Amino acid sequence: MAQVIAHRGARSLAPENTLLAADLAYKTGADLWETDVSLTRDGRLVLFHDETLLRCTNAASRFPSNPSYRVRDFDLKALLALDAGSFFVETDPFSQISLKAIPRTVFSEYRHCVIPTLEQGLEFTMKKQWKINLELKYFPEDETGFFVPDKTLEVIEQMGILPDRVVISSFNHGWLERVIDKKPQIEVQALIGENDTDPLDFGDFRYSTYNINAKPVDDGIIKKLKDLGKKVNLFTVNNKAEFDHYASLGVDGMFTDFPQLFCSGTTIFT
Ligand code: G3P
Ligand code: CA
Repeated sequence: MAQVIAHRGARSLAPENTLLAADLAYKTGADLWETDVSLTRDGRLVLFHDETLLRCTNAASRFPSNPSYRVRDFDLKALLALDAGSFFVETDPFSQISLKAIPRTVFSEYRHCVIPTLEQGLEFTMKKQWKINLELKYFPEDETGFFVPDKTLEVIEQMGILPDRVVISSFNHGWLERVIDKKPQIEVQALIGENDTDPLDFGDFRYSTYNINAKPVDDGIIKKLKDLGKKVNLFTVNNKAEFDHYASLGVDGMFTDFPQLFCSGTTIFT
């Protein structure tokens, strides 16, 4: 059976990458959750996907004269003061509010959602005895060397989460090599195909697991990787027929915004 990997938490039900989205994903019964690790100006790590704060927070209205809204141009304290949930109610990104899949009493609280720190994400995962996939976000003009993988490993160590409850993934394969060198007990997964039109380049096929963009992938590529003995995860699969098809090809896991479609967990909204 293919693993269900909750993409940015249960991103269709709650603001992505928040602890609430993680909690709802856990309640669906997903096998693990995926989240994005980004660097702040003052060298802390937070769970946030985009390079800028504009889509998912109120940074523009809260700091109207800021010259930049990039996450890395904000200190942690300022980031933690942002509303990271109202965007979900205002834009209803997966139409789950208009389809009445989320109770009003639940989504009316989303304005209180904040950006979590990496420490909080790990603490949540440990408390639930669950598993987390940390995608180390890399923005090409960043000149931070190995700071992000090194700091991630430092926080993992400090928090005391067991290595088998953490996966580290990245499009930056140099960072994965760093993780392998420093902490070989932690599983790494190589992301392939950041943009839907990127050619899928597996290099020398050195990694045991490839997390591949589901848009450009085809059955032949999956079969080849499976014949080579690789573990294959696909992002992002939100459709049941697609999920079943890939599962029949031996795909090991699928990142989905809708873990509630593929799992039969406990009641999500109590
Ligand atoms: O880790 C899989 C997937 O999350 C990679 O793409 O853009 O959703 O972070 P993205
Ligand atoms: Ca991601």
